[in-house]
Amino acid sequence: MKNEIFRTHDSGNGSEGPEEKSILTELDLKNLPRHVAVIMDGNGRWAARKRLPRIEGHRRGIQAVREVITLARELEISILTLYAFSNENWSRPAPEINQLMTLLKRYLLKEVETMMSNEIRFRAVGQIDRLPGAVADLIQSVEEKTRDNKKMTLVLALSYGGRTEIVDTVKRLAEDLRTEKISVKDLDETLFSEYLYTGDIPDPDLMIRTSGEVRISNFFLWQLAYTELYFTRVLWPDFKREDFLLALLDYQQRERRFGLVSKWKQGYRAAKESQ
Ligand code: FPP
Repeated sequence: MKNEIFRTHDSGNGSEGPEEKSILTELDLKNLPRHVAVIMDGNGRWAARKRLPRIEGHRRGIQAVREVITLARELEISILTLYAFSNENWSRPAPEINQLMTLLKRYLLKEVETMMSNEIRFRAVGQIDRLPGAVADLIQSVEEKTRDNKKMTLVLALSYGGRTEIVDTVKRLAEDLRTEKISVKDLDETLFSEYLYTGDIPDPDLMIRTSGEVRISNFFLWQLAYTELYFTRVLWPDFKREDFLLALLDYQQRERRFGLVSKWKQGYRAAKESQ
């Protein structure tokens, strides 16, 4: 049976192309990842290949952001995290940082009503207090405005670094230990996770990185422990609905064992032992 997917209000870019339709027939819509995280990489290289300024790559990157959010919402994926600005990105030239902050502000101002009409909750994770005051204030107001939306959570990792997050987590835990809000015997993986920036957000099931780089670059170091990783050579501004669907299809072909023995191996072993 052909899969029909729900199209959101303001979803923007018209109907599915033939390739998207054929991937959709393969996809099991009942077995999609709950949380998909994306390292959006390759904006600069995309621009360089076209002899355009880097900012053009980021601008086109926003179109890809819209496509992916729209499709995730249509597919009823519960959580989508986009790594939009890393701690390391603070070392970029000031004009590029300023341009990225301006794009982010414009994006939030423009999309907040779309988030409301599509019941998307917005969250930001990272050292938000390092962002310019106007950006941090805007983030807070969009978080507050969208906080009761239930259909999907859009998480932006901003001024984010995995090691810094772990250090910040340890500091907050140490403070609560010092004031005896918690005791050492309470400390386990679950409690530690609750102190991360992502405290109430489940770990990603699938992490996608674009642009051909095969590393995680300080992203969600704790949270990716059991996540399926998918790498594609497509540069972020070229990442289309079809590319996202291919990543989901690839995910569905994997067997997630979380360190356990696969069902196939269990069956094989049982058969051997009964011989
Ligand atoms: C990586 O490309 C991308 C970034 C550092 C920023 C990502 C930002 C956007 C897609 C636009 C803003 C996003 C939102 C949500 C408003 P790169 O510059 O590192 O590319 P390169 O490795 O090819 O140089």
